[in-house]
Amino acid sequence: MAAEPISPETARRATWDDECTAYYLLDRSDLSVVQELLPPGARSRAHAHDRSRQFFYVLRGDATMMLGPRTVSIPAGSGLEVPPRVRHQLRNDGDEDLEVMVVSTPRVSGSPHGRPRPQRRDTRNLVVGSYVRRTRAGDLDTVVRIEEGSDTSRWLGQGGRGWHEEVLGDPDMEHWVLVDRLDRVLAFGILAGLQEPGAVELRRMVVASEGRGQGLGRLLLRHLLEQALARPQVSTVWLDVGADNLRARSLYRSFGFEERPAPPGAVLLDNGLYLEWSARRH
Ligand SMILES: CC(C)(COP(=O)(O)OP(=O)(O)OC[C@H]1O[C@@H](n2cnc3c(N)ncnc32)[C@H](O)[C@@H]1OP(=O)(O)O)[C@@H](O)C(=O)NCCC(=O)NCCS
Repeated sequence: MAAEPISPETARRATWDDECTAYYLLDRSDLSVVQELLPPGARSRAHAHDRSRQFFYVLRGDATMMLGPRTVSIPAGSGLEVPPRVRHQLRNDGDEDLEVMVVSTPRVSGSPHGRPRPQRRDTRNLVVGSYVRRTRAGDLDTVVRIEEGSDTSRWLGQGGRGWHEEVLGDPDMEHWVLVDRLDRVLAFGILAGLQEPGAVELRRMVVASEGRGQGLGRLLLRHLLEQALARPQVSTVWLDVGADNLRARSLYRSFGFEERPAPPGAVLLDNGLYLEWSARRH
């Protein structure tokens, strides 16, 4: 049993459909309690659960629930039961955000409300057999191509070939690539501040856009954390991430990174949040 109260600030968070947020306040196989935030116009897909019985309680805004053949309005301060095997769809038809507490027993597996994420294409093929090695100069063309994608560069600070060449030659930094069985670069990551005692910075990690959502980010992050923490004098790894980079925030949070006030002198992205992983808490 958890000894500490939990809130959306401290709960594991995930996004669905890139605009809705779910906070896992309790996530056990026999019971889950999830607080969900849907902006105006958002809706889940219509679906039914084989075994789970659910209760949707509206905290803020007005929910519309398609429940079997009926459409039911649920105003703030009231809730609705959804029995197993009944097809339902939650919608925010209002003009303000909708906040709903969803209690499910047993837990609903997967992402019940979002349209399913793009299928994890040949997950095992990519993840199994992939490994992380130090970056060589010959990898940099691919590294820069991965970084320059429009769905990538917006999340990052400076980059480019010259910048990566400097990183490769900097004794204070380590450049890593995640490669597949044929040694094709799928992702890269950079550690910095390695000569300082105490804390290492995870300066950058990027998975090629076509390889995302298949567990490669998780594989790379685990490796980078292990590399950083293998140093006897290092107990903390920190990074900054754009506040609107929900995908990356969700990954870091699931590894136990926590938001902290940035120490004086830390240089962050414009809308950057300072996150820290500390061995003292693990
Ligand atoms: C962030 C990034 C590294 C994640 O890599 P990835 O290979 O897609 O991640 P994984 O498939 O290993 O997924 C790991 C976790 O990320 C989160 N995640 C991945 N895709 C997501 C999505 N579409 N929506 C919300 N969260 C998502 C989840 O927490 C996921 O864990 P789960 O699958 O158990 O739910 C990758 O999206 C990326 O390179 N983004 C652009 C660059 C960037 O933002 N880098 C970070 C800068 S600080």
